Amino acid sequence: MNYHEQLRQDTQQAEAWLRECFSDRDPHADLYDAMRYSLLAGGKRLRPVLLLETCRMCGGDVEGALPFACAVEMLHTYSLIHDDLPAMDNDDLRRGRPTNHKVYGEATAILAGDALLTAAFETMLEHGGPFPPERVVAAAACLGKAAGARGMVGGQALDMAGEGHALSLSDVEELQRLKTGALIAAAVEMGCILAGGGEEERAAVRRYAQKLGLAFQIRDDMLDVEGDEQTLGKPIGSDAENEKTTFVTLKGLERCQGLVEELTAEAQQALAPFGEASGFLCWLAGELVARKN
Ligand code: IPE
Ligand code: IPE
Ligand code: MG
Ligand code: MG
Ligand code: MG
Repeated sequence: MNYHEQLRQDTQQAEAWLRECFSDRDPHADLYDAMRYSLLAGGKRLRPVLLLETCRMCGGDVEGALPFACAVEMLHTYSLIHDDLPAMDNDDLRRGRPTNHKVYGEATAILAGDALLTAAFETMLEHGGPFPPERVVAAAACLGKAAGARGMVGGQALDMAGEGHALSLSDVEELQRLKTGALIAAAVEMGCILAGGGEEERAAVRRYAQKLGLAFQIRDDMLDVEGDEQTLGKPIGSDAENEKTTFVTLKGLERCQGLVEELTAEAQQALAPFGEASGFLCWLAGELVARKN
């Protein structure tokens, strides 16, 4: 199987598992419709792929890791639903569809996000069976830390507080490390934890994810300026409208692309200790350099 096929297979498995997970729960309730609406709207499924492939690289049970990969995607989807709310970025388009609150109203969108966040932890604890309990606990703790005040939510708080203010480069780096980097790092670290990786392996995959996460957010900021709304599936110009300081406002588009390339090379180097087994994750980092969505 080549890397493209491998990516397709991982994505499809995550899609199928997520669909199955929410297929038989009270199909008529607005809340479940709202959860499914955003969760099953596509999306790149980058975090599940990272978790599954890190697990594979570290010699773990990839099939057993699927519920954990989907848990990270549930949590990520919740963060997007809340990020789009009028009180936050106030955006109307996500994953190529009207945003959750535009369709279901703000109250249901907030609750759908809450329910996806909770479902992530329910999923990991309910389906952790193939792994020793201490790995399940460590993986869930890793996600909990990355998602909360010391991670994604903390970053979102800094992002909101920064609106309308001129931030420094180190402010924006810290903000991105939390709001985007933390969840990407958790995905790879969880894959390594589930595979029984030791501290050295965890440190190497964390370094890969830190560089990749930073490159990913820089590219996200670029796409908010130079992207195509149709391809991107979310609005262009949202950052400017909300007066955010971004990597683009600080560095300009051209320098940003250079940074994405440099960080990607550093991410790839971080996986050198894994030798040939790191082929897919190195390739994936390269694929994201010029991503259009
Ligand atoms: C968007 O994440 C939010 C950021 C952290 C930049 P993605 O670009 O991974 O969004 P989806 O999952 O593909 O919709
Ligand atoms: C949000 O960053 C990251 C999250 C934690 C959801 P952005 O606000 O830049 O994400 P997009 O551009 O709306 O996807
Ligand atoms: Mg935002
Ligand atoms: Mg946003
Ligand atoms: Mg953005």
